[in-house]
Amino acid sequence: MTVAAALDCTGIHAGYNKVAVARDIDLSVGHGQVMTVLGPNGAGKTTLLLTIAGFLAPLKGAISLDGVPLRTGSARRMNRAGVVLVPDSRALFTELTPVQNLKLAARRSRSSVDDVLDLFPALRLRARLRAGQLSGGEQQMLAVARALIQAPKVLLIDEMSMGLAPVIVESLLPIIRQVADESNAAVVLVEQHVQLALEVADVAIVLVHGGIVASGSADEVRREEATLAQAYLSGGTDP
Ligand SMILES: Nc1ncnc2c1ncn2[C@@H]1O[C@H](COP(=O)(O)OP(=O)(O)OP(=O)(O)O)[C@@H](O)[C@H]1O
Ligand SMILES: [Mg+2]
Repeated sequence: MTVAAALDCTGIHAGYNKVAVARDIDLSVGHGQVMTVLGPNGAGKTTLLLTIAGFLAPLKGAISLDGVPLRTGSARRMNRAGVVLVPDSRALFTELTPVQNLKLAARRSRSSVDDVLDLFPALRLRARLRAGQLSGGEQQMLAVARALIQAPKVLLIDEMSMGLAPVIVESLLPIIRQVADESNAAVVLVEQHVQLALEVADVAIVLVHGGIVASGSADEVRREEATLAQAYLSGGTDP
């Protein structure tokens, strides 16, 4: 018997105003698995996440959770079904404290603020500050914590490390691994730090100009050095 993946996307075409910027995207992420989505600037990574999260309607294709096809194109519906996006902007309430930010997100959730803060002890120590006064890395932890408090089935994280020093990224990414292991959520992680992302991920896809040019286990994709180098050369950034 095959067990349905937590998240299945089949033949997804994603884009804007009927113009596809990502095409024929097939991906499956199991419970407790981390998939990293790699690729140069403009490859279509954010567009794909926005489509899975329901902010954009797919131009074609199907999305199912645990084998159940979903009606796509509504962020509210996707969120109710268990899909939570951590956007690259983080979108925190900067004037509120970390706990106030978490409580706002926790309204419909079974998880408690305390449970979530156990994963991010640094946030506990900064309870008196407003979110806007936290460091970039701490704000990112809060953005992930705010997603987790909604007990996601599918957690989509867009460029968590944007603007952060590599040493901070090195400490944040293993937390994502731990989140997947402990919460059993399927995690889709868009990341520019290719090698660090491949270390914590189980599976990976590489997008170039909206198409998948490599996919497989993180180890398999890591060995595709030539494809990776070419992907980033064509997009003008280094892996
Ligand atoms: N709102 C929009 N309307 C029309 N085209 C858009 C819109 N947003 C993005 N695009 C285009 O879609 C393509 C893919 O963009 P996307 O933001 O998904 O790339 P990305 O892989 O996330 O890049 P980055 O690594 O820079 O974040 C780009 O060519 C971009 O110009
Ligand atoms: Mg992006």
